[in-house]
Amino acid sequence: MKKIHKGVILAGGMGTRLKPLTRVTNKHLLPVGEKPMIFYSIETLVEAGIEELLIVLGGESVGDFVKLLGSGDEFGLNILYYVYQSKADGIAGAIKLAERFVGQNSFVVMLGDNIVNKTIKPYVDKFAQSPDRARILLKEVEEPERFGVAEILNGKINKIIEKPKEFISNLAVTGIYMYPPDVFDVIRKLTPSARGEFEVTDINNAYLSKRRLDYDIFDGLWTDAGTFPSLRRATEAVWDTEKKS
Ligand code: DAU
Repeated sequence: MKKIHKGVILAGGMGTRLKPLTRVTNKHLLPVGEKPMIFYSIETLVEAGIEELLIVLGGESVGDFVKLLGSGDEFGLNILYYVYQSKADGIAGAIKLAERFVGQNSFVVMLGDNIVNKTIKPYVDKFAQSPDRARILLKEVEEPERFGVAEILNGKINKIIEKPKEFISNLAVTGIYMYPPDVFDVIRKLTPSARGEFEVTDINNAYLSKRRLDYDIFDGLWTDAGTFPSLRRATEAVWDTEKKS
């Protein structure tokens, strides 16, 4: 089995929905429980076997990331690189900046504002068995209109819609994505969406149309932390987990 050892965390974007907290600092540096938000995605990837990590930075306070994370030693990383996304042109735009780091490897992407309370290793291991296919993790949510949403028909993904205005399913596409290195060819063909961003949902739909998209339903708690209610949910989730351990 091929080992997946490269990971990318996206910590760009403007953090607009958390203003004024993000007026003078970066969303991913805000506290969630006892740690800065970015720690959780790093720990999740390292626990799943990632040894080499690239963090895509953007917006405010980027020097603080280097001060906070340094060489990545503390997390058990062999390599920690940073790259700066000068314009928040979307998640696919941020992934594109990882092309040289990734080279010819399959890799895992995690959004820096996503938090899970359970290992993702079993899914990464499945991905490692067919690393030329893309893989996403889905999770039932109460407000699907806030996310990319997957409609499942006969056990297969039928379509994915970004922030659907009408209900198609309650299965959100979480911010944990696994891609083969040809994802950069896919990204090069994308055009910006109505909100002016290169959308990760368009990447996933491109793999879907080539029948090269697999999925799992994540069996733990998953939340983003990019709005005040979700930041609160994330904080409560990690407090509960920390208290149990
Ligand atoms: O959390 C999962 C959801 O994340 C998915 O279900 C959606 O399909 C996906 O589009 C995304 O939705 P959001 O609207 O919540 O994404 P947001 O703009 O908040 O960005 C999420 C993270 O991605 C954020 O922590 C920083 C990073 N990001 C975002 C943008 C737009 C970047 O690094 N660069 C960017 O340009």
